Amino acid sequence: MEKFNIAIDGPAAAGKSTVARLVAKQLGFVYVDTGAMYRAVTWKALQSGISPERKEQLSRMASELRIELLPGEQSQQVLLDGGDVTDLIRSAMVNKNVSAVSAIPEIRRLLVAKQQEMAQAKGVVMDGRDIGTHVLPDAELKIFLTASVKERAQRRFLEMKAKGEDVTLGQLEKEIAERDKMDEQREASPLVQAEDAVLVDTSGMSIPQVAERILELAKSAA
Ligand code: C5P
Repeated sequence: MEKFNIAIDGPAAAGKSTVARLVAKQLGFVYVDTGAMYRAVTWKALQSGISPERKEQLSRMASELRIELLPGEQSQQVLLDGGDVTDLIRSAMVNKNVSAVSAIPEIRRLLVAKQQEMAQAKGVVMDGRDIGTHVLPDAELKIFLTASVKERAQRRFLEMKAKGEDVTLGQLEKEIAERDKMDEQREASPLVQAEDAVLVDTSGMSIPQVAERILELAKSAA
């Protein structure tokens, strides 16, 4: 199959990364999790004690960071200046602050340029919030993946429980709904379905079913 690009966007915890990874594996494409890049910048900001309001200082810090995404078995491995931050960037503190950091236009400009470079050779499955609308507007296939807040919170709840994390379903519903709202209402590249994206509502669908549906769409896009 000739190489082409697939953009997968959608709200928090819609299953984008799991599905995107599966699809990339099946097609022999490279999976790029852009949320991990915004998370890595947020983690570094928290570590350095820089609050999301200090936009200029944050942008300067972000411009000096070396973020690397390496393929991993379960998830993509994320290296920040050579150190492994894969698990650290999934913390509750990062969840809470990432939408504010990713609303800063200069930080988006830096990361989008990097993402576009990664997709230049084609053959990527990239997931995020603005991939179909801003990062890869010419992607051959665009998917907008969604599910109800209740269902997304429930899936995340089971995932976190399995990892032994102490969290309630109510907390997760609130956190996911807040993050959606900030991502949808920000001025810089808000979360919105691209006009030419295919909407896939995953409520009631299993991960393999969703991956299968995207692979079918990929066949007709190839
Ligand atoms: O995909 P994930 O939930 O890990 O993304 C974390 C956060 O990063 C999102 O809530 C959003 O604020 C931001 N993000 C973004 N643009 C992207 C990917 C993620 O603004 N392309």
